[in-house]
Amino acid sequence: MAEARVIDGKAYAQGLRERIGKAVAGLDFTPGLAVVLVGENPASQVYVRNKAKQTVEVGMASFEHKLDASTPEADLLALVEKLNADAAVDGILVQLPLPDHIDAEKVVNAINPDKDVDGFTVINAGRLATGQDSLVACTPVGCVMLAKDALGDLKGLEAVVVGRSNIVGKPVAQLLLKEHCTVTICHSRTRDLPAVVRRGDLVIAAVGRAEMVTGDWIKPGACVIDVGINRIERDGKKKLVGDCDYASCAEVAGAITPVPGGVGPMTIACLLHNTVRAACARRGIAMPRI
Ligand SMILES: NC(=O)c1ccc[n+]([C@@H]2O[C@H](COP(=O)([O-])OP(=O)(O)OC[C@H]3O[C@@H](n4cnc5c(N)ncnc54)[C@H](OP(=O)(O)O)[C@@H]3O)[C@@H](O)[C@H]2O)c1
Repeated sequence: MAEARVIDGKAYAQGLRERIGKAVAGLDFTPGLAVVLVGENPASQVYVRNKAKQTVEVGMASFEHKLDASTPEADLLALVEKLNADAAVDGILVQLPLPDHIDAEKVVNAINPDKDVDGFTVINAGRLATGQDSLVACTPVGCVMLAKDALGDLKGLEAVVVGRSNIVGKPVAQLLLKEHCTVTICHSRTRDLPAVVRRGDLVIAAVGRAEMVTGDWIKPGACVIDVGINRIERDGKKKLVGDCDYASCAEVAGAITPVPGGVGPMTIACLLHNTVRAACARRGIAMPRI
């Protein structure tokens, strides 16, 4: 079988950001995204910097709030309340993880659901689960965009999601259900995982285990979306790999996302997309076609 088609998430995300930029230019207001970072987690600092840069690049306003790692929970909750009430702020994102002394669930659920552009509040998770219009977590949205780009209509496909986290596995499964896939969600207690994954016309791997899914788990011709970001060391060099063993999966799959350059770049682009959605919904105007 021919080598799988590579799904270029970097290029797709760039195109999406360009379309968002054009849509923003056509609005008679400037959508605003507020990002809150507590502490100095190096990975979080990079994400927050990239989010701010890309927000400004598409013509939106970026508000950054960097707080000391020792910030009391009450102060963070007060900031969230302030941003909830701020008319210039359409989207609020509190960068996770938060320091141990702060209850992350409490903080996330303090965000006004209509400004919850990360889609992590219980209200938005519930809206998604009940098929209502909701702001949906960015990485799952990006996964489904890439799958639709690769496969077209997803209706009737067997989709297998490996991982059941609240930020990836569960919301991506809900989105695929909305697309009329037959969805199986796997986790650490799933029996004979390779056999279950082999049923998938579409496989979404969100496990957090380097190269766990190998080519012999993949149905020939299936589409593989690899969410994993794992830092490993090989031959004395640091390397970023996914949850799928790319080389063996690409020999069997019909299409596959690489790591890096697959799902990763989609997350911020989808965050910007969610911010435009939230901004339009708050003003009661139709979302521009993006
Ligand atoms: N922007 C992005 O591209 C982006 C965003 C978010 C996450 N990620 C990456 O995606 C991966 C998953 O993230 P996450 O936050 O969803 O991880 P997580 O919260 O740790 O969840 C991992 C899931 O995988 C399951 N699992 C673990 N070991 C397994 C095994 N041996 N067999 C089957 N299932 C197993 C767990 O099952 P149990 O529930 O039974 O424990 C859990 O449901 C990570 O590599 C993360 O870095 C990337």
